[in-house]
Amino acid sequence: MKSLEEEENLQKIGGMEVLFATSVWLISTIFTGLAILGGILGYLYGPYWGVRRVPGPPTIPLLGHLPLLAKYGPDVFSVLAEQYGPIFRFHMGRQPLIIVADAELCREVGIKKFKDIPNRSIPAPISASPLHQKGLFFTRDARWSTMRNTILSVYQPAHLASLVPTMQSFIESATEKLHSSKEEEITFSTLSLGLATDVLGQAAFGVNFGLSNTHSIGTSIKGEDNDDEVSDFINQHIYSTTQLKMDLSGSLSIILGLLVPILQEPFRQIFKRIPGTMDWKVERTNRKLSGRLDDIVAKRMKDRERGSKDFLSVIMNAMESEAVSKNVFTPDYISAVTYEHLLAGSATTAFTLSSIVYLVAGHPEVEKKLLAEIDGFGPPDQMPTAHDLQHKATNQMLLFICSCLLVNQLSSFGKTNLPMDFVYLSVFQMQAIKEAMRFYMVSPLVARETSRDVEIGGYLLPKGTWVWLALGVLAKDPQNFPEPDKFRPERFDPNCQELKQRHPYAFIPFGIGPRSCIGQKFSLQELKLSLIHLYRKYVFRHSPDMEKPLELEYGIVLNFKNGVKLRVIKRT
Ligand code: HEM
Repeated sequence: MKSLEEEENLQKIGGMEVLFATSVWLISTIFTGLAILGGILGYLYGPYWGVRRVPGPPTIPLLGHLPLLAKYGPDVFSVLAEQYGPIFRFHMGRQPLIIVADAELCREVGIKKFKDIPNRSIPAPISASPLHQKGLFFTRDARWSTMRNTILSVYQPAHLASLVPTMQSFIESATEKLHSSKEEEITFSTLSLGLATDVLGQAAFGVNFGLSNTHSIGTSIKGEDNDDEVSDFINQHIYSTTQLKMDLSGSLSIILGLLVPILQEPFRQIFKRIPGTMDWKVERTNRKLSGRLDDIVAKRMKDRERGSKDFLSVIMNAMESEAVSKNVFTPDYISAVTYEHLLAGSATTAFTLSSIVYLVAGHPEVEKKLLAEIDGFGPPDQMPTAHDLQHKATNQMLLFICSCLLVNQLSSFGKTNLPMDFVYLSVFQMQAIKEAMRFYMVSPLVARETSRDVEIGGYLLPKGTWVWLALGVLAKDPQNFPEPDKFRPERFDPNCQELKQRHPYAFIPFGIGPRSCIGQKFSLQELKLSLIHLYRKYVFRHSPDMEKPLELEYGIVLNFKNGVKLRVIKRT
């Protein structure tokens, strides 16, 4: 029999064992808890830690600086640049962006250190959309450079020039409806979106969407041959594009992706199966859109007789003649890159055309000079050629100087208005376009991501840092653009002091370096042609129904919240 003492000892040992087991459990629970907390904090604050030395406003957990975006809207980066200088941190949820708001630093990121920063970061709305990921915009490294080099062949001057008649015919039908002796009010931004989408539809796919005939976007759109397929396609394109929101108004998975990116994909997989949710609709639309695009590509691939005028044909012909591109341009990439042209080119060009016409409507002195230049292109029924668009004004100027020399009246050169107006306007048509693009910069931020550790503006940025160039802030910097809120095309006159003193990279609406916009010449050609056609016959005035100043909203690019409403007046 055990003595009482032994039993007490056994009980003590048992108690100690329980205590020990409890302590081990408690400690391991605490450590697990701490590890989970550390993991969560590491996940949420890890990206911040690497760039913590870059200045920036205090952040709100999870939301980051999104409330500032809600408070200031598109101006938020100008406000922060004033406070924190040319390079600062802005947190989209947990994701820090290093915002570069200085022309020289933009040159460093976009050009000088391109090999360290060659790709774009992929924001939440895009990572939820495979359709939008395989275009040129978001492909990376070697695949990107092969794709870009092949696509560049499409932008040879000869090919662009061959597109002039196509562009003209769409512009004509878009402006046909304006034919009316009485003054008429229109939502110009709707007209310009229809026009730009039609031009791109024809140029990219060789398909006539027929939007310019109806002036209605998203409703009762019919193709040339009454094709409901076309109308569906366009509705899907517009829906899919407008859902790519950069604020907190997108689908649930996109909002989660902005706040906690790791949750985006699992939640997208769940929500896309729940009928009625925005994720479900976006998924359905994108699937249909991809299916249609793949069909078009497959059909065209079989078609030996394909024409060589549209982008899709050119890219397939190039692909067939180059072994390298074949592996890069698989059918899904061809669909994506072709679709991307519609996406990247329509909203941007349409927005720019609307802003020019809106701004000119509010500035009669600018309008007068523009009309003088446009009337100088020749009689209203004479169509300008691609060559005219680039050289006509210069030629007219030379002709004038020659005639002055012939009649020995060079002194009259300075007295008459004609050639000076031409200088002002030929360059001016460009000056007006540039100034409108500066005033309302359609793509005020462009994205980059570091591929290795790199030093920018005195800060060492780790590999994987998102670096965004604030083109919109540069365009409103009073050092480069005195009185930045005034619309003054003359500030782009090559002879003016303001331009001579300006940093060469202060105005870069098409981006910078090897990743700059591939469609720049295409859109400028379309803009110039559209302006010539419009102003030969009409002038525009602001509608009394339109808010002042115009309200803007952030999508993948900037947009007019309530459209641009204008009164059309036929010129006599
Ligand atoms: C006014 C019209 C336009 C503006 C303001 C504009 C602006 C831009 C900007 C700012 C970028 C980013 C550049 C960078 O990251 O440095 C870009 C890229 C791009 N744009 Fe445009 N764009 C316009 C029209 C077009 C058109 C008409 C097309 C196609 C026909 C197009 C296709 C593209 C593509 C494919 C890229 C990606 C280039 C690459 O990553 O290699 N854009 N655009």
